[in-house]
Order: sequence, then C-alpha cells, then structure tokens
Amino acid sequence: MTPTHVGRRAALVTGASRGIGLGIARGLADAGYDLTVSARDAARLEKSAGALADAGGRVHRVPADMAVEDDVRRLAAEHAQHHGRLDVLVIGAGVGSAGALEQTTTKRYDLQFAVNVRAPFVLLQHSLPLLRKTAAADPERGSKVIALSSITGVAAEPDLAAYGAAKAALISLCRSVNSEASAQGVCATAICPGYVDTDMSAHVRDRIDPSRMIRIEDVVELALSVTRLSACAVVPEIVVTRPGDQLWRA
Ligand SMILES: NC(=O)c1ccc[n+]([C@@H]2O[C@H](COP(=O)([O-])OP(=O)(O)OC[C@H]3O[C@@H](n4cnc5c(N)ncnc54)[C@H](OP(=O)(O)O)[C@@H]3O)[C@@H](O)[C@H]2O)c1
Repeated sequence: MTPTHVGRRAALVTGASRGIGLGIARGLADAGYDLTVSARDAARLEKSAGALADAGGRVHRVPADMAVEDDVRRLAAEHAQHHGRLDVLVIGAGVGSAGALEQTTTKRYDLQFAVNVRAPFVLLQHSLPLLRKTAAADPERGSKVIALSSITGVAAEPDLAAYGAAKAALISLCRSVNSEASAQGVCATAICPGYVDTDMSAHVRDRIDPSRMIRIEDVVELALSVTRLSACAVVPEIVVTRPGDQLWRA
C-alpha cells in the first residue's frame, strides 16, 4: 500500500469526468485533496484527471462502469490501495431517462437502478471500513459521503418515475449510513438539486433556459461546505430548487 502524502486528505469521486462530479473533484483538488476519479470513458477521464492534477495532488484514474458490480468493487479496492484513507466519498455517477410510467421499459428501469442505487450500495459496502478508519483517525472532522440525488427523489416529477424512485432510494441509503455510522464519524448527505446545466439536462434546454438552471458551481459550493463540517453536524439532505412560482419541481 502506498500511503497518501502525509497530512493530505483523500477523496473518491465517481462520475468525475464531466458535469457536477468533475466540478466537485476540481473543488476538492483545489482544497488539497488527493483523488481517485472514475467514469466509463477512459480517454475523457484521462483528460479531466490531467487538469485535476494541476492543483498539485495525486490523482488516480479508474475507468469503471457502475452498472458492473466487479468494477464497483475494484474501484473501492484501488482507492484503498493507492491512498490508504478515505475522507470524502462522492457518489456522482448517475443516469436518467425520461418517459411516462406506462412507457418506461423494465430495461431502462433496471439500468437506472443499477447505476443510481445498486452501485452506490455496493460502493458503500466496500468503502465503509476505510471511511470508518479515516473518521477514527480524525474524530473532529470525521469522514463524509456526498451523494448526488435529485429533487425528483423528494417530489414526484411527470415522466421521471424510475429516475425519481432511484434517487429516493439513494436518499434512503444516505439516511442508513447516518443511522449505522454517524456515531462513529461517518456522515452522509444527499444533495437533491433541480435541473443543473450539464449534459444530463441537455434534453430540456428547449423548454428551460440553461441560464436559469442551477449552476454546477452552486452544487460544488454545497458539497465543499459539507466536507468542512465537524463530525457533530449531520446533514441528511440538501434540496436545491430553481426560482419560480413552483418550487417543488426539477
Ligand atoms: N444535471 C442535472 O440536472 C441533475 C440534477 C439533479 C441531480 N443530478 C445528478 O447529479 C449527478 C451528476 O449529473 P451530471 O448532470 O453532472 O451528469 P453528466 O454531465 O451526464 O455526467 C455524468 C457522469 O457520470 C459518469 N457516468 C455515467 N454513467 C456511468 C456509469 N454507468 N458508470 C460510471 N460512470 C458513469 C459519466 O461519465 P461516462 O459517461 O464516461 O461514464 C460522467 O462523468 C448524477 O447522479 C445526476 O443524476 C443531475
């Protein structure tokens, strides 16, 4: 095992090649974290990781498909091997597809649950021992899990039944982490935004002006704030909605 640079915290970020995950990875790199970053597209991940390394920390890349259980296990193992501690686990990788409940195929449902719920469950199973160990070594700060859920996990949105159900399950997983591990310093937060201007929301740009969507930087700011909290403050969920007369919608 190669220990992380003395005194440097380490984070594992999935979905780190673009969008919100990349934004959080950049914020963590600038805050002095060593990183493990993951996504499927190896070439894109390499490019993103190169830019993250400019901040001066160590950046380990793990191309992996969160729909494949062996990849999820390998990701947790590689992080532990390279960094030896886990201060922040960011569950960023996610997929969504829109469609009325009656028209959503079980294949689409299964993919969304595989990436948005099953992978986080397996990743948590394999990361909790190191999260607990890291928290025990730093009882004031503890260690953090930050999961990118969605406002659709809190309030139902037409045409997003499978996605919303998966994101609600992710919120529940974070609550379970808090009930099982927050007393030992491992605290989980599900960030639940409405539409953020990324590739994932490109399909609604014709009806929602991207300049009126939540900024990636807004979500990054919230995530970084959570990482700075003491282990005495548990924040189970943060809901972020867009301005307007209907607040409980994506
Ligand atoms: N954008 C929004 O409006 C919005 C709102 C609320 C919540 N969220 C949530 O925030 C998270 C990030 O969203 P985003 O908008 O930043 O998405 P994005 O721009 O589409 O980026 C998704 C990231 O996840 C990776 N990814 C996708 N499928 C994967 C898989 N099967 N295995 C491993 N990595 C995978 C992608 O890389 P590869 O394609 O190379 O794998 C990419 O790095 C998601 O969980 C999403 O559900 C987004």
